[in-house]
Amino acid sequence: MRRPLRLGVLGSGKGSNFRALMEQINDGRLDAEVRIVISDVEDAGILSLARDFQIPGLYVRPGRFRAKLEPEVEKDVVRLLHEASVELVILAGFMRIAKQWLLEAFPRKIINIHPSLLPKFPGLEAWKQALAAGETMTGCTVHYVEAGIDTGEILGQRTVPILANDTPDRLHIRIQKAEHVLLPAVVADIAARFRGPEVA
Ligand code: GRF
Repeated sequence: MRRPLRLGVLGSGKGSNFRALMEQINDGRLDAEVRIVISDVEDAGILSLARDFQIPGLYVRPGRFRAKLEPEVEKDVVRLLHEASVELVILAGFMRIAKQWLLEAFPRKIINIHPSLLPKFPGLEAWKQALAAGETMTGCTVHYVEAGIDTGEILGQRTVPILANDTPDRLHIRIQKAEHVLLPAVVADIAARFRGPEVA
């Protein structure tokens, strides 16, 4: 018997990508199970969504640094993920860079969703970068997380055209719609590979 792939989701924001995963799981279109949601933002939308979906949601106090978790806190996150038997960690709008403890605990088992066609426009507010650069096309990328910022093997991308009258907000909304298709599709691919062929 196959069992669903066990996911842990880390996010700092409204959680629309987490919602997209949950909708596909609940519709029976994605054979996975979200075991835990962790946020570094106490009032993040992703934590109230976790409550709505009846998934354990935990706030971790991030510590002194702006761009990463305090090492002791990152170790706590690893412990929480292990206690929840998580097999794949998804950074879904998590605004901190994963460091040594997470990377060593989950090698090639952490993925990130980024709002550009990487390697173009890594870093913050990538849709604004694409607009400012005069691109006609941008999109979103899901990639494995490694030590660099928004580097790591690319697992999937979706393109989004940039329209003549686009504003940053309108473009970001369309990119997010593409993210909500791409992320569950990549997780489904990983789930299929992870479990290997079905045994009778
Ligand atoms: C997404 O646009 C993602 O690309 C970026 O952060 C945003 C998270 O949005 N890394 P949400 O919290 O999933 O709505």
